[in-house]
Amino acid sequence: MTVCYFTATGNCLYVAKRIGGTLLSIPQLMRQETTEIEDDAVGIVAPCYAVEMPMMVKEFLEKAHIRTEYFFFIYTYGMGYAQAFTNVEVTARKVGLTLSYINAVQMVDNYILFFDMQEQIDTLPQKNVEGQIAQVIREINERQLKQVYPTENDLAEMEKWNKNHAANILKKDTALGYTVNGDCIRCGICAKVCPANNITVTDSGVRFSDHCEVCYACLHNCPKSAIHMPLEAGTAHFRNEHITLNEIIGSNQ
Ligand SMILES: Cc1cc2nc3c(=O)[nH]c(=O)nc-3n(C[C@H](O)[C@H](O)[C@H](O)COP(=O)(O)O)c2cc1C
Repeated sequence: MTVCYFTATGNCLYVAKRIGGTLLSIPQLMRQETTEIEDDAVGIVAPCYAVEMPMMVKEFLEKAHIRTEYFFFIYTYGMGYAQAFTNVEVTARKVGLTLSYINAVQMVDNYILFFDMQEQIDTLPQKNVEGQIAQVIREINERQLKQVYPTENDLAEMEKWNKNHAANILKKDTALGYTVNGDCIRCGICAKVCPANNITVTDSGVRFSDHCEVCYACLHNCPKSAIHMPLEAGTAHFRNEHITLNEIIGSNQ
């Protein structure tokens, strides 16, 4: 089994590690010329962003050549995923993949613009993360089918959503909104955890380019909490308790 993952704050890496098999980082696969993946089962674990998959994950699906009898997709999410499953089905169809199994694991919501991380962490036990993961692992190991069958109406809604809402939320120039305060020590961790190679750190400061994935890995993993967005729901930051900073760096560098 091969599991490809995208992670900013470790939830997806933790789920991918628990599922097991050969783990491949999508940001690293995206830096290769071509990607051929062939295995009896191939899966993707990715965060839900604005009720769809991250931009880079969609680009990966469109670029990679995946050959498998059993293709699965697991979202991690915080609050709700609405039509995110339909989104995967639409993309899978487009690239000629049959989506055998799709599911979602509710974890901490790292969208700091809406959610206070301390409150998210404090209420995490109510989400029974381990129970959800155990079920996903069992169903994948049994090669269960859990498919989505979007209606014409679902597809039309999806089209509208992608054009009018998600595209506006997940704009690649979001990085222009970041500020870096005087606590920054130019350690370069923000650049190392950025899955999009969008950050450069020099003696004169931190510079964001224009292809931000809006994952907030830089903001959450900054050891000095020096990176900010104009509106934040709280001061605490988040990284999955089972995942180290070095693992995030190792995944995204
Ligand atoms: C830009 C952005 C948008 C998000 N949108 C959603 C969403 O629509 N629904 C949801 O439940 N969680 C949403 N989240 C929360 C993440 O999906 C969730 O915290 C995920 O587990 C993070 O995975 P990671 O730790 O591997 O990066 C969003 C997070 C970000 C950064």
